[in-house]
Amino acid sequence: MNKNQKLAQWLEHRISYDAKARNLNVETSCQEYLKRKNHLKIIDFGAGTGANCRYYFSKISQEQEWFLVEQNEELLEIALESLIIWAQENGYESQLQNSRLVLTNQVHKITIHRIVGSILDLENLIDLNTFDLAVANAVFDLFSEKQFQTLLECLKKYQLPMLATINYTGMNFIPQTDNDSDLIKYYHHHMQRHQDFGRGMGPECGSFMWEAMKGIGMKVLQGESPWEISNSDPVFLEFILGFMEESIPEIIEEATLQDELNTWLLEKQQMMSQKKLSCSVAHQDFWGYWE
Ligand SMILES: C[S@@+](CC[C@H](N)C(=O)[O-])C[C@H]1O[C@@H](n2cnc3c(N)ncnc32)[C@H](O)[C@@H]1O
Repeated sequence: MNKNQKLAQWLEHRISYDAKARNLNVETSCQEYLKRKNHLKIIDFGAGTGANCRYYFSKISQEQEWFLVEQNEELLEIALESLIIWAQENGYESQLQNSRLVLTNQVHKITIHRIVGSILDLENLIDLNTFDLAVANAVFDLFSEKQFQTLLECLKKYQLPMLATINYTGMNFIPQTDNDSDLIKYYHHHMQRHQDFGRGMGPECGSFMWEAMKGIGMKVLQGESPWEISNSDPVFLEFILGFMEESIPEIIEEATLQDELNTWLLEKQQMMSQKKLSCSVAHQDFWGYWE
């Protein structure tokens, strides 16, 4: 399995957790706003394998036209396959018309376009004039403050509202053991390490997003969207520990810290095999619109 296939597997596994976590207050407020439109043109930032649009399909009663913007072409290929499977499982006919996928049943029509490119190059990718909504799920903790600000300026230019869900703000293991806070701190340092675009916001994205959206003149509603991962889902816990195991060594230099990480991981694996480990992960959702 290559890296993208593994990433796709993770994105699929988290769907039910995201669905449970999404803040209904925030979501309902967005739905209210969209009620008066009879056709919706929506852009999905960092669409990955299309999990976000699949979540919203059944929540929208109007005719829908989706534009999935994703920089990873292989994920968008997987998105196409997943969308066709979704259609079969949910009583829709699917038709590939040139590069568009059209899903229809007796009452609904959903058109999906896939666009390979960066969210930060939007104006060169599509004409933003006719869109009703932008959505993004689990994307902005990866962005730097500057990138997020640039995106907001673009949204302002086109008065495009945005529903941004599942933005990571922190985690903790239950029960807590020695070194948890150190290791989680290293994990956060890795998210905020220096990269070619600057530093990712990581767990600080929530407070920055709130300030930046307000600052640019949006009306903003914010809500919590936590995951509760029980001790009976070792696959999910394995994913989280795996991310920590892969990323932390990239930012630690001393051998003693690597030993600390190894010992800690071993301890967590043992707790997991005895079904004694669970985890909660904090996120925030934002609905921002223009008046
Ligand atoms: C954690 S995944 C979430 C995927 C999807 N939204 C979901 O809910 O399953 C974050 C996605 O954002 C994409 N991404 C990050 N920065 C991007 C950028 N500047 N332009 C386009 N896509 C980006 C990544 O390639 C990745 O697929």
